[in-house]
Amino acid sequence: MLPVSTCTSIRRTLIRAGTLPVHVLNAPALAHRVLVTEADGFDKGRLLQRARPVLGRGLFASDGDDHRRQRRLLQPAFHHQFAASWARVTEAETAAMCAAWRPGQVVDVVTLTRTLATRVVLRALFPAEPSDRTIARVNHALPILLRGFIPRLLRPDGLVGRLPTPGSVRFERAAQELRGALHEIIASYRNAHAPYAPHAQDAGAGGAGEGGLLPLLCGSAPGGRPVLPDDRVRDEAVTMLLAGGETTSTSLTWLLHELDRHPEVRSRLRREIGAAGSDAAATRERAPYLHDVLKENLRLHTPTWVLTRRARRPFQHGGVQMAAGAEILFSPLAMHTDSRLYPRPHVCDPDRWTRADVPRDAFMPFGAGVHKCIGEGFALTETAVALSVIVSSWDLATTGRSDPRAGKHLVIHQPRRLLMTVMRPPRRS
Ligand code: HEM
Repeated sequence: MLPVSTCTSIRRTLIRAGTLPVHVLNAPALAHRVLVTEADGFDKGRLLQRARPVLGRGLFASDGDDHRRQRRLLQPAFHHQFAASWARVTEAETAAMCAAWRPGQVVDVVTLTRTLATRVVLRALFPAEPSDRTIARVNHALPILLRGFIPRLLRPDGLVGRLPTPGSVRFERAAQELRGALHEIIASYRNAHAPYAPHAQDAGAGGAGEGGLLPLLCGSAPGGRPVLPDDRVRDEAVTMLLAGGETTSTSLTWLLHELDRHPEVRSRLRREIGAAGSDAAATRERAPYLHDVLKENLRLHTPTWVLTRRARRPFQHGGVQMAAGAEILFSPLAMHTDSRLYPRPHVCDPDRWTRADVPRDAFMPFGAGVHKCIGEGFALTETAVALSVIVSSWDLATTGRSDPRAGKHLVIHQPRRLLMTVMRPPRRS
């Protein structure tokens, strides 16, 4: 198997992922070559192909010309001009979540933040008003998929790997459940906007001017053909929920845990947010400390702890020789917690980001190059606003029934269980 600790403690070596030999390259210069300067020499590799039954041909799993076309199509929905509307949705959803809390109540933070992130992604990006049934289906499916990815990556090729084990049956059912929930959302959007709207880029209501992915994907191209058929729209939607929902909710979960462990950070943050207002939290200029806290949390608890690639041609770097077809894996989390790069790497120190010598090039929680996270701005806006709303009115304290170690074998670096008691903050904290 392939536990987090194995991949994060090594810098450059060859390991086996199941039966597959994989080069682990945990060095910023190598990562930079693979992701940025020589990116056309690599594709996402066999490890990611194993995720195809879930991600389909969505952006995360695509390469080359297909990827370039898709990225161009989706990019307008992530334009910074929509940040204020993402912030409004996040603020309303987080306020509704917090309004239901009572002092002394114990909340399951992993589940709550997952629901929050799902609602925010669906409302801000699709845009769709999710029903409770949709949220329940998504919440049921996501953890099963997260747990199932790595065992799936490690399965042997051929018939043996295709045998229906109880785990693989659960995984397939969860994938179907998620796809079904998203098909419903897409169908209801199409019904409300049928017949196909003019090409969404030019459309007024519901077009790119108002933001959202469905207006971009469900419009019609010149000639009247749909921009994408339903199953491709669904693949993009599943990708956004998996890539965008779980990562952001995980980041918020770790943030709440770290603030409980560091009350001095929480107090300073509360003072800054009190002065700036939670609606201003999304901007670095108005809330610089908050943004350093977010960065430090992404360094310490990088949700996408492992990235994969495959060499399309022979590759050489220093002592590393790789043949075409070699599978590569590297861990941003390993680089972010390497003491040669970040002194006292396991200490939460948001102020390190104000120092001139902090190695910014080695910091890649959102990846780098052509596949760099399309949702970076969205994620930072969402976490900044959600955290501000929570911190403005509540303190959360980790209970003894929690297990805040990162779950083993999860494709996203998430705490196993985080149960926290909600309390009103003292008047002057
Ligand atoms: C804290 C939150 C997030 C983190 C840490 C994160 C991290 C990443 C990373 C590391 C990659 C690059 C993967 C690779 O190179 O193999 C990536 C790609 C991607 N992310 Fe995010 N992400 C976050 C939030 C989001 C959000 C909110 C969305 C959308 C709603 C999103 C959608 C995507 C997509 C579609 C890709 C594929 C991009 C491409 O290949 O062109 N992510 N993300």
